Amino acid sequence: MIFSETALQNEHVLITGATGGIGYETAKVIASMGASVTITGRNENKLADLRKEMEEVTDKICVHPTDITSDEARRALVEAATDKLGFISGLVNSAGVAGNMKVEEMDESFLEELMDLNYYSAVMLSKQVYKKMIENERGAIVNVSSLSGLRGTFANTSYAGSKFALIGFTQSFAVEAIEQGIRVNAVSPGFVNTEMGRQAIQRKASRNNRPFDEQMEDVKAGLPSGRITEPEEVANTIAFLLTDAARNIVGESVKISGGSVMR
Ligand SMILES: NC(=O)c1ccc[n+]([C@@H]2O[C@H](COP(=O)([O-])OP(=O)(O)OC[C@H]3O[C@@H](n4cnc5c(N)ncnc54)[C@H](OP(=O)(O)O)[C@@H]3O)[C@@H](O)[C@H]2O)c1
Repeated sequence: MIFSETALQNEHVLITGATGGIGYETAKVIASMGASVTITGRNENKLADLRKEMEEVTDKICVHPTDITSDEARRALVEAATDKLGFISGLVNSAGVAGNMKVEEMDESFLEELMDLNYYSAVMLSKQVYKKMIENERGAIVNVSSLSGLRGTFANTSYAGSKFALIGFTQSFAVEAIEQGIRVNAVSPGFVNTEMGRQAIQRKASRNNRPFDEQMEDVKAGLPSGRITEPEEVANTIAFLLTDAARNIVGESVKISGGSVMR
């Protein structure tokens, strides 16, 4: 198997956070590679827009709007996706929320919500999908972590904690799952040009009492590539990790950050 435009044509991939910048592009890339795709998120208008764009390349689409933080909702999501498009052979856990705040600003209920979405929901949805993957002896899961899951930064404890946890989950789960022929990996983007990424830069700007554009220039200057990452660049990495071309990539966290880890 080589990485090609048809590398996912026999797969059914479920993508959470499909209404967000990274999930949206991932759904489009994966659909264009021939996979059946289930998309989910809470924003029904964005799901409708995405469906319309995907319909240009495929009719194998399941749209299931939901809040994935409840067990019941996750079960219903997996059931609806399987009923419509069959065995889920790929899962992308992209739903997530940011939490750029200092410890003294942190609020317990927000921390619970953040962990519930960024960590617990990804783990429990993986567990559900994994059961059928074991029966089918194949499958691939990609968790969307972050550079914040690999190193701590100022005013980022809650988010970093959730993303470190996701990498710990990815590595440990990968070791178990590969025995069943199932691969688990993560991607760890730096700043991505999505609503979440732009808001994170805006918050930095506000903290530093300076305009957004100035802060953005600073961020770019800190990156060897001279720019932040576009969502389709993360989407392509996720798509690659889902294919058999990545068949011996297990428990990794692929950084996509324009080389920021080297500075
Ligand atoms: N952007 C960055 O700079 C960056 C960098 C590194 C890692 N990441 C990670 O990449 C992933 C995607 O980020 P993004 O930039 O695409 O963010 P985004 O545009 O803000 O999208 C976030 C997604 O999460 C979904 N979501 C939030 N709460 C939810 C809930 N309770 N139930 C179901 N879905 C929920 C949102 O859908 P609805 O609003 O429709 O529910 C949306 O699809 C996240 O895990 C993020 O932590 C982002």
